[in-house]
Amino acid sequence: MVQYSNLNYVIKDSIGYVIINREPQLNALNQETLDELQDIFMHFNADDHVRGIILTGAGLKAFAAGADIKEFLDLSVIQARWLSERGHIIFSDLIEGSPKPVIAAINGYALGGGLEMALACHIRIASDNAKMGLPEVSLGLIPGYGGTQRLPKLIGKGQAMQMILTGDMIDAQRAYELGLVNEVIAQDKLIARAEEILHKIFTRSRVAVANAITAINAAEDKQQNGNKVEMDAFGHLFGTEDFKEGVSAFLAKRTPNFE
Ligand code: CAA
Repeated sequence: MVQYSNLNYVIKDSIGYVIINREPQLNALNQETLDELQDIFMHFNADDHVRGIILTGAGLKAFAAGADIKEFLDLSVIQARWLSERGHIIFSDLIEGSPKPVIAAINGYALGGGLEMALACHIRIASDNAKMGLPEVSLGLIPGYGGTQRLPKLIGKGQAMQMILTGDMIDAQRAYELGLVNEVIAQDKLIARAEEILHKIFTRSRVAVANAITAINAAEDKQQNGNKVEMDAFGHLFGTEDFKEGVSAFLAKRTPNFE
């Protein structure tokens, strides 16, 4: 197995765990961490032993406190543009575009690029001590890993404007009220709750879950016709063994036994 410098990973009970591991830097995403995230998500997305992914941060204080500001000073305009594009590609293609459900278990600060990483996940749950924000304007920047695009879709344009233009942090309860996270959990129960959600999803058809993710993502993709993606996927699923099993199990009043 590959050893990474900035993240830990493990596969257990069909769950791939990705833990950003730069605790002294509050798990800030330096460029090497982005490389490693790209690598592990490519690996997990292709590994049939992994049916779902939990993304979290090491320690009790931070999920990820943003892109690594210490790497910013020397970047040229062109390099900064490319850094933003790399973040977009990794978060869009490999996290949001993963065929497997990805849960962000937000265990503390999720700021800037750290919150943007969580926004790319399919489901977000937060510990009760979590704090979230997009503080980039206080650095003379704007969110660069998709925050201006994903946050308004999730919580509405007005609330997203306020969060991004003030740069203010919100607590977990406010994030829940805004629909930014699905649930708020005591910190010591956060991972267990993420596991519980994934294990529920694992009782469903794997191919149907993957197609549902694709169709939901297509709704937000201007390059695609989401309705057509849904219709094609719906038709396609009628040709699968899981469909036959799911419908026969329903009619026989038994629990389906998917592949
Ligand atoms: N980049 C680099 N280092 C960071 C960091 C970041 N985003 N966030 C925290 N750290 C480092 C600190 O520099 C400090 O390191 P040293 O011990 O070497 O000085 C260590 O983590 C601990 O941080 P603090 O001492 O600041 O901890 P605190 O408890 O006093 O404050 C905090 C916590 C409020 C989260 C504060 O660290 C903070 O405001 N961090 C920056 C948050 C931020 O602005 N994020 C956005 C980054 S820009 C971005 O992400 C662009 C994009 O969209 C791609």
